[in-house]
Amino acid sequence: MIKVVTVKDYDEMSAKAFEVIKEIVTAKPDCVLGLATGSTPIGLYQNMVRDHEENGTSYSNARTVNLDEYLGLPKDHPESYYSFMHRNLFSGLDIPETSISLPEDGEDKAAQCEKYDKIMDAVEVDVQLLGIGSNGHIGFNEPGTPFDSKTHVVDLNDSTRQDNARFFDSIDEVPTQAITMGIGTIMKAKKVLLVASGANKADAVAAMVNGPKSENTPASALQSHPDTILIVDEAAASKLA
Ligand code: PGA
Repeated sequence: MIKVVTVKDYDEMSAKAFEVIKEIVTAKPDCVLGLATGSTPIGLYQNMVRDHEENGTSYSNARTVNLDEYLGLPKDHPESYYSFMHRNLFSGLDIPETSISLPEDGEDKAAQCEKYDKIMDAVEVDVQLLGIGSNGHIGFNEPGTPFDSKTHVVDLNDSTRQDNARFFDSIDEVPTQAITMGIGTIMKAKKVLLVASGANKADAVAAMVNGPKSENTPASALQSHPDTILIVDEAAASKLA
């Protein structure tokens, strides 16, 4: 069951998503937050940093696990998700570096997947934040990914590479592969918070909520999740039934 909350615009979406996170962090300071990259969560992250600065909300006992990482980019590349998360969130909070996990690139990809699955098996995620790709992906789980998948290496779809090309000098520099938490692991989170903004997400949002549950739309797996909240602005909600 997906609970849909429609708001006016990006700023309202960010504020509403922040309310959800703040409630969890306040009630449970040692919570586990599943985090996401992309343009959509940036406003939420700005709210979290501002609240930490102004109200002292502490993340010193929290733990974070991220969804995914590019393969073939050094960790300190500005567009690695490691860099993205430190730039947009972690540098503004009091979370210890040792409490932060992201999937990682490495020589042995299978070993890296296994390592991340071990991390995910050892935690219970209180809330998993998700964006949605214009093709319905969650994390880097592209259409066709089995719903019971664990951490795996993916070949990125052309549409995903094109969507992300805006962050790179040219499409040729966008990595072709990534490592991502699987859909089966995402589904184990106690709560899922999916944020979507803009008309280019309208088809994916409608397919996720109203479409058949199908591996062609990875986000539609969430129809079976017991506690998913979708916070969506009017443009991204425009094709919902
Ligand atoms: P975006 O990416 O927030 O940059 O639109 C979302 C996603 O691909 O999951």
